[in-house]
Amino acid sequence: MRKPMMVANWKMNKTRDEALAFIYAINESLPSCDVVDTVICAPAILLRDLVKRQGDNLRIGAQNMHYEEFGAYTGEISPVMLHTTSVEYVIVGHSERRSLFGETDEFINKKVISALSHGLKPILCVGETLDQRELGITSSVIRNQLEIALKGVSSDDIKNIIIAYEPVWAIGTGKTASPSDAENECKNIRDAIKELYNAVTADEIRVLYGGSMKPANAKELLSCPNIDGGLVGGASLDPTSFLELVKCCL
Ligand code: 13P
Repeated sequence: MRKPMMVANWKMNKTRDEALAFIYAINESLPSCDVVDTVICAPAILLRDLVKRQGDNLRIGAQNMHYEEFGAYTGEISPVMLHTTSVEYVIVGHSERRSLFGETDEFINKKVISALSHGLKPILCVGETLDQRELGITSSVIRNQLEIALKGVSSDDIKNIIIAYEPVWAIGTGKTASPSDAENECKNIRDAIKELYNAVTADEIRVLYGGSMKPANAKELLSCPNIDGGLVGGASLDPTSFLELVKCCL
């Protein structure tokens, strides 16, 4: 039995006041973390404030990190900084990082390895662009992304990774993958993990769907056998909507 998970990716949104008002609004209403993992991935500048005020059933994650511990990397945040701030998760390889900031699979692999070695749980994003989808190469694109991003990750460490399937054409567009398409690709991810690791690991790893998920479509997506939760942008910005999404996991 895989525990469901709902992850908010706030992206570059919310001031400190707005972020604190959000978590005060949801802290007491969240279901127990024994039954669902609820995570907010916030801008780096807000992490410390959120960690200090997170309720028992909330966890905090970062949206990105550099793979080096320290150094001349202006503007970057290191895994040591995240770990010592008691951040538990970090999104790695989001398509906005890939497309807007030029991150490659090899670069993402270094981040995955570094996050794991610093006790952080990477939420590794994979997904195809519209062009790739139209060319009918979605499954091979995703397999290739996984193979490179997970290079050198041991069968012990893979247990601390969450994979998010985010079709790039569905992000922030209002277009959602149909539940059957999303399910197929999440199953494809699980099959790839079985090939790269083993059947037990494939069965245990959590695979999330992301891309215009909202309360109106979440139940159907989350009822698919290979979709274990959501990674949500727009619909995670409002506390009522996010809380509804968390409850759709139950
Ligand atoms: P939207 O939910 O706004 O489509 O964003 C999805 C996403 O990119 C989450 O990481």
